[in-house]
Amino acid sequence: MSRRKFLKTSALGVGGILLAKCVSGAEDKNIVEEKVVAKTTNKPIVISTWNHGLAANNTAWEILSTGGNALDAVEAGVRVTESDAKNRSVGLGGNPDREGKVTLDACIMNHENECGAVAFLQDIEHPISVARKVMEDTPHVMLVGKGAYDFAIEKGFEHKDLLTPEAKADWIKWKESEAQKKPEINSENHDTIGMLAMDADGNISGSCTTSGWAYKLHGRVGDSPIIGAGLFVDNEVGGACATGMGEAVIRIAGSATVVELMRQGRSPKEACKEAVERIIKKHKDIKGLQVGFLAINKNGEVGGHSVYAGFNYAQKDNATEEMKDAAYEMEW
Ligand code: GLY
Repeated sequence: MSRRKFLKTSALGVGGILLAKCVSGAEDKNIVEEKVVAKTTNKPIVISTWNHGLAANNTAWEILSTGGNALDAVEAGVRVTESDAKNRSVGLGGNPDREGKVTLDACIMNHENECGAVAFLQDIEHPISVARKVMEDTPHVMLVGKGAYDFAIEKGFEHKDLLTPEAKADWIKWKESEAQKKPEINSENHDTIGMLAMDADGNISGSCTTSGWAYKLHGRVGDSPIIGAGLFVDNEVGGACATGMGEAVIRIAGSATVVELMRQGRSPKEACKEAVERIIKKHKDIKGLQVGFLAINKNGEVGGHSVYAGFNYAQKDNATEEMKDAAYEMEW
């Protein structure tokens, strides 16, 4: 090339630089210019699954908008949902298993690939905070059942009965019904909060917490506490979380798959769609099997996709506070 022109653009909030080549139209059509184009990073930002994400995002935003870090934000955010007794799929008030026990799964992951998880945890209101303690205070990644409960009590968490009168009454009705013979998972009886945040420093963390599939077998653990299934973060690339039927998410290592697809160049939307397509391809019977993925990349671009219509997510950043409907493959 005889001539090279470097154009530099700068703007407030610029977080990344993209090298692009293009053909100059003005002077000589054959001259290739190399432009250094500033790419704006949307940060801080928080996204989370379903309508309950709006309130959770607001609490996360109090931290992110005042210079706090993404890890603190994703923990504080989902604690709001865990304490909401009206929410029947997360924490206090969550639907019990078929024995009438509320058993909770949660995990958390930060920008340094550190992570912690608890599964089949009972009688503790904030499994996400116990998961963080596992990450920060032990050499392990996951504690389950009584071991997780004993650890929580040792760390100062309070014992609390999480089965509300409303959830108990519904469980008793379910026990008397035909439905108990063939448990179904759908958007009415099941969802999760997964949250992903990028702070002002550009670091990404994620959290995921649920009471799981209503009236599940005692001892069942879903995708939500499994790093790589319900949640995955790689700070070089982005983060992803999942909601819906955990068994299907685990089968394709769902959230890790979404992040790896973004690493290969897919946008968050494209990566979530491809993971959903893989779930559909790998299941002989996809009828009623709902899964949704939500993802963010290092530019603060987000996307979601689900098997069936109806999955939505909440987004909050400097310009946005809204619910968004995810794209999907099928109508119910
Ligand atoms: N996705 C939550 C669960 O399957 O338990």
